[in-house]
This record gives sequence, structure tokens and C-alpha cells, in this order.
Amino acid sequence: MSLLLPDAEATMALGHRLASLLRAGDLVVLTGGLGAGKTTLTRGLGEGLGVRGAVTSPTFVISRVHPSLVGGPELVHVDAYRLGGTAELDDLDLDADLEAAVTVVEWGAGLAEGLADDRLELTLAADPETEERRLDMRGVGPRWEGTDVEAALRDTGGAA
Ligand SMILES: Nc1ncnc2c1ncn2[C@@H]1O[C@H](COP(=O)(O)OP(=O)(O)O)[C@@H](O)[C@H]1O
Ligand SMILES: [Mg+2]
Repeated sequence: MSLLLPDAEATMALGHRLASLLRAGDLVVLTGGLGAGKTTLTRGLGEGLGVRGAVTSPTFVISRVHPSLVGGPELVHVDAYRLGGTAELDDLDLDADLEAAVTVVEWGAGLAEGLADDRLELTLAADPETEERRLDMRGVGPRWEGTDVEAALRDTGGAA
């Protein structure tokens, strides 16, 4: 299952649509090289969820909590790029937040799977010649059984 994202705005808009699909307790694992658009997608998600603070690529902080401004789930944004491994991810003590939050882990493949049996795996791939990104998605676990993620995230031309 793939979707094409022609530019950064399209990736932001996809983040908005992702927000309406997610609920408290959900885990999203974001994969893709440097500059693939993981943080851009998470920024759109944060906007869509209505959380406080702009989602950025933190230089020193590995995990940041964005509280909801609209009575919804908070967004826990983890950038695991500098994390040494699963032990350090455990040190972040994320488990406590997972139930109440939508958790997004950039660079989480191979690390974040242990956090939850249910997770949405999103992979961004950049076309070196253009701004276009390809998004592949896979829902893992009972939470995502029977959900057509691609249909939910596809741009139908309606309000994002
Ligand atoms: N289709 C696209 N989707 C997302 N970002 C894009 C796209 N086209 C260009 N860009 C640019 O690529 C960069 C992606 O950066 P970022 O989201 O921080 O990536 P990552 O978190 O994966 O390292 C941004 O400067 C963004 O404006
Ligand atoms: Mg990033």
C-alpha cells in the first residue's frame, strides 16, 4: 500500500488526515532516511490533533510531549536517531504515557516494536530528483485489523 506525496504541503495534509485516524494509546513508527519527511508528517499530525507547540527536529531532546489544546490525546514525539538502543528507549519511561497519548517514534524501526503489539508502521521514501515522497503503510496487531489505512489516508480532495 503506497501513497504519493508530491510536496511538503501534501505530507502535512496527510498528517492532518492521520490525526483523525488515531486515538489515545496508538503508536506510530516512522521510518525513512534523513530528510525523508518524518518530522514534517509529525508536524501535520500535531496540527491535526490540536496540540500545543510546533513539532520540530529536536537537537538535544529525544522525546517531547505536546499536550492537547482541544481535550484530545497528547502527542509524544520521540526522535530515536541518537538513541543507542532498546535499553535507552526503555530509559525514556514512555510506557507510562502510551495509554493517554498518540506516540510517534522517528527512527523507531527495530526499537519501538517492543513498546506495543499494535502499531502503525509508516515508511517514507524520497525521490532524489523531485520533492515527491512515497509513503508505505502497514498496520500491525488487532487494533489495525480490518482498518483500510490507505483508504483513510488517501487525499480524497475533501477537507483534510
Ligand atoms: N513531499 C515532501 N514531504 C515532506 N517533506 C518534503 C517533501 N518535499 C520536500 N520536503 C522537504 O524535505 C525536508 C524534510 O525534512 P524532515 O521532515 O525534517 O525529514 P526527517 O524528519 O525525515 O529527517 C523538509 O525541508 C521539507 O520541506
Ligand atoms: Mg526528523
